[in-house]
Amino acid sequence: MTGLAKADFGDDFTWGVAHASYQVEGAWDLDGKGPSIWDTFTHGGGRIKNHETGDVACDFYHRYQDDTSLVQELGFDAQRFSISWPRVQPDGRGAANAAGLDFYDRVVDDCLAKGVEPWVTLYHWDLPQALQDLGGWTNRSIVGWFEDYVGIVADRLGDRVKDWMVFNEPCSFLVVGHLLGYHAPGTRSLRKFLAATHHVNLSQAAAAQVLRAKVPDANVGTTHIVTPMRSKRDTERDRRAKASIDVIANRIFWEPNFGLGYPVDDCPLIAGIDKHIKPGDEEAITVDWDFVGVQYYQRQLVKPWPVPKLRGVPWMSHDYRSYEITAMGWEVQPDGLYESLERFAAYDKVPKLIITENGSAYPDTLVDGRVHDDRRTAFYRAHLAEVERAVADGLPVHGYFCWSLMDNFEWAEGYVPRFGLTHVDFDTQQRTIKDSGYWFQDFLGAQSTVPA
Ligand code: BGC
Repeated sequence: MTGLAKADFGDDFTWGVAHASYQVEGAWDLDGKGPSIWDTFTHGGGRIKNHETGDVACDFYHRYQDDTSLVQELGFDAQRFSISWPRVQPDGRGAANAAGLDFYDRVVDDCLAKGVEPWVTLYHWDLPQALQDLGGWTNRSIVGWFEDYVGIVADRLGDRVKDWMVFNEPCSFLVVGHLLGYHAPGTRSLRKFLAATHHVNLSQAAAAQVLRAKVPDANVGTTHIVTPMRSKRDTERDRRAKASIDVIANRIFWEPNFGLGYPVDDCPLIAGIDKHIKPGDEEAITVDWDFVGVQYYQRQLVKPWPVPKLRGVPWMSHDYRSYEITAMGWEVQPDGLYESLERFAAYDKVPKLIITENGSAYPDTLVDGRVHDDRRTAFYRAHLAEVERAVADGLPVHGYFCWSLMDNFEWAEGYVPRFGLTHVDFDTQQRTIKDSGYWFQDFLGAQSTVPA
């Protein structure tokens, strides 16, 4: 793994770091912000490790200037952050909260002043609780509510923000939040999952149109987690299981927007989605993305036996003996990233790919002001080698964002898994660049700030 060089990724390649509102901002009820489903979920008790919440998180709400300075210090071109819908519209509908919009205005201006491109995600899972009370994503009216919200944000930031992502990983909040119930809103229902999925797919297209209408020269995309599936054997039963889980974990969230409809034949379990499709939806749902954001963390091993509670869905697992495992219990398989890029590039409707998230959690320790996270550096080098291979093979890959700039609130896992290039002491809010951060600083050609 020698010879990784920034120049091999091309001149128009964006190097960035990513994070998300609920995971970093804190200030959960400040300056007019309304509650989100994650506020409700974490305050509800018993569902998050150590009963932790995002009430304070990394306090990015007050420390965004220092954090953007870190992005600059590490040599990245771009910072991907998300907008909290209930900070902008406390009830999810109606008039905008001026203080909320002002906050994002300041973040954008600060990025631009420091030569950091702001890449904005419009929805990274923190739905206004007031909308959840009306059914949330299961209520078809949400397509219009979302359109209005996107319009408000685009009107305010569109003169300066050119790079937009509509959703962060529909799979995660739809499967984990609506079908399995481990994330907010915590429902466990196939019916709700299917309704919400169709409304999210419609909202992707509606939001893309709003952005195109309001932001001249917008670079409009969305992001998807991609989980390549594998099985231990190659029997007919294994192949069928793999195809069906691939629909629920992957294809159902992106193929409708590519104009390919719902892949019901490969997964009859989703047939009920038909009930939610209205005349005209098939055309309305198609999107001409400028780019698709690929988020890759792991492959999964498909077990062909069904999970009883999930009405016959085959389930997934890991092979802990054959691969290195991260603190999340995920297998490290860098070539799965190449496989994911190759897979997306094969779709007609995908002109450009950006890796909008990739990263790993390890039990880091801060000793004498340093974090020697060699495993994370090795993880990044191995994955970047796969990206370099994809670029060399002519796949249209134009950017790479690390997850994450700093340790943050890792959803149901609380603050234990640390994904950052920067260590955060959550008692003092002290940031310390880890060795992996310094590795990027060197790789990206920024001036070294490694302590003597
Ligand atoms: C999400 C992030 C999350 C990361 C690590 C992605 O699925 O977009 O919010 O922290 O993975 O689990």
